[in-house]
Amino acid sequence: AASYPQLKRNPNFAEVTKEHVQYFKELLGTDSALIDGVNADATDDLASFNSDWMRKYGGQTRLVLKPQTTEEVSKILKYCNENKLAVVPQGGNTGLVGGSVPVFDEIVINTARMNKIRSFDEESGVLVADAGVILEVADAHVGEKGYLFPLDLGAKGSCHIGGNVATNAGGLRLLRYGSLHGNVLGLEAVLPDGTIIDSLSKLRKNNTGYDFKQLFIGAEGTIGIITGVSILCPPRAKAVNVAYFGLESYEQVRKAFREAKGQLSEILSAFELMDGRSQALVQESTGNKPPLEGEYPFYCLIETSGSNAEHDTAKLETFLEHVLGEGIVADGVLAQDETQIQSLWRWREGITESLSHLGGTYKYDVSIPLPELYQLVEDTKIRLTEKGLVGDDDSFPVRAVVGYGHMGDSNLHLNVSVRQYTKEVEQAIEPWVYEWIAKRNGSISAEHGLGVAKKEFIGYSQNDTNIKLMKQLKDLYDPVSAANRQPDACEKNPEQARK
Ligand code: FAD
Ligand code: MLT
Ligand code: ZN
Repeated sequence: AASYPQLKRNPNFAEVTKEHVQYFKELLGTDSALIDGVNADATDDLASFNSDWMRKYGGQTRLVLKPQTTEEVSKILKYCNENKLAVVPQGGNTGLVGGSVPVFDEIVINTARMNKIRSFDEESGVLVADAGVILEVADAHVGEKGYLFPLDLGAKGSCHIGGNVATNAGGLRLLRYGSLHGNVLGLEAVLPDGTIIDSLSKLRKNNTGYDFKQLFIGAEGTIGIITGVSILCPPRAKAVNVAYFGLESYEQVRKAFREAKGQLSEILSAFELMDGRSQALVQESTGNKPPLEGEYPFYCLIETSGSNAEHDTAKLETFLEHVLGEGIVADGVLAQDETQIQSLWRWREGITESLSHLGGTYKYDVSIPLPELYQLVEDTKIRLTEKGLVGDDDSFPVRAVVGYGHMGDSNLHLNVSVRQYTKEVEQAIEPWVYEWIAKRNGSISAEHGLGVAKKEFIGYSQNDTNIKLMKQLKDLYDPVSAANRQPDACEKNPEQARK
């Protein structure tokens, strides 16, 4: 994993000493509540906390704390604040922008032991749970009562709901169920000075002043640690259908999307895009037989979720006849049972993992208006080819330029798969890619957040006034950081890109 030598550790923050560790041991008690690499060599035990899911970002922590209660989080943060100890919150550590990794030597505050479901109301569908509950566990819990967690993503077996809220994760069904800014009804969080904010409302309507929870959704842990989440779960659909299509061009994909919205409207729950290269990669890494006989430059996956199987099937069949009959899609397959549904979804959800088996990946998670969404992949291919960086044999650093994403949300995942990370490739893509996005008024981070990977490029998607307001908020909630901030190259000011 790469570390971040280019970012200097801020010497105004203290280094963890044996005395500090002693305080945490007395507070948290048992050995499983912390990993102590200060008093002893715990390099192996610390390794997974010092690296991210992609093994791209390297950390140097020597102390991991695993509190079990909100009060413990509060005491930890108060002590760290008073002793100028830097911390990084960590959930399932599945984030893709390095935000959960202690890239300096911050203390990791990991939510794995905060894993209790607090309550579920079967009438309202409101779930209240600790931040460290794994997404799949939360979904299975509400699933038993006929409800659905309104977020689904490929990392569901590892990511925590607190991490999901902290990153404002989007995922595979945002098209239908909306963003966490709408579904989260309340939060419990701890500010850097240890103050507990109890805003764990179960109300859908509560217009009584500022809505504090919204500040924490997508804040990536910068103003406090989320310890509890209250979230509205919709009823689980009784009838789910999944279809997988091959298409000849991106224009056809756009047409298929328009038709799907028009004809399937209220039952459409996902519209996902995969290019030919992404599907070839999944096939290479899994060895599975592709869903369709032929090869196509584009594929899409459509899911419908409704309450009446007969009604949904009739709608879907009319839609299929139309898109096949009009030649909008070249070929397609409809899952016949739950096993086939899961296996079709794996062709979409498995892309990230297949890419991770190949070596390095430069990941760009971007929002671009639909007409030009896939053009970014084409332009990136052209640029890297012109620079002589792409090729099939090992002498070329770039193996493949891949595009996939949440078409229904105008969210593309541009991935440049490399044999090794090199400055040459990075400089060929950045900041060019951010300028490309800014010119189209897109976002340089649609759903993964800024982390350490995108932080310095925020200026390509937010103007100076917005960035100033964000700093003011950060300083209000975290005055110790503000007082000890060093002049940094936090944002490259991309005036040129905006012109
Ligand atoms: P972590 O990775 O541990 O942390 C993420 C960030 O949140 C860090 O900045 C961390 O400091 C902060 N944080 C964590 N917990 C807390 C807390 N309790 N309070 C305050 N701050 C906290 N994302 C999408 O949006 N859509 C997808 O479809 C999607 N698919 C993915 C598929 C795969 C295979 C993988 C590996 C990742 C995917 N992601 C996706 C990335 C996504 O950000 C994470 O999976 C998830 O939301 C992060 O949760 P986590 O618990 O792992 O958080
Ligand atoms: C996805 O949609 O698959 C995730 O956001 C992960 C990724 O971008 O690879
Ligand atoms: Zn995604």
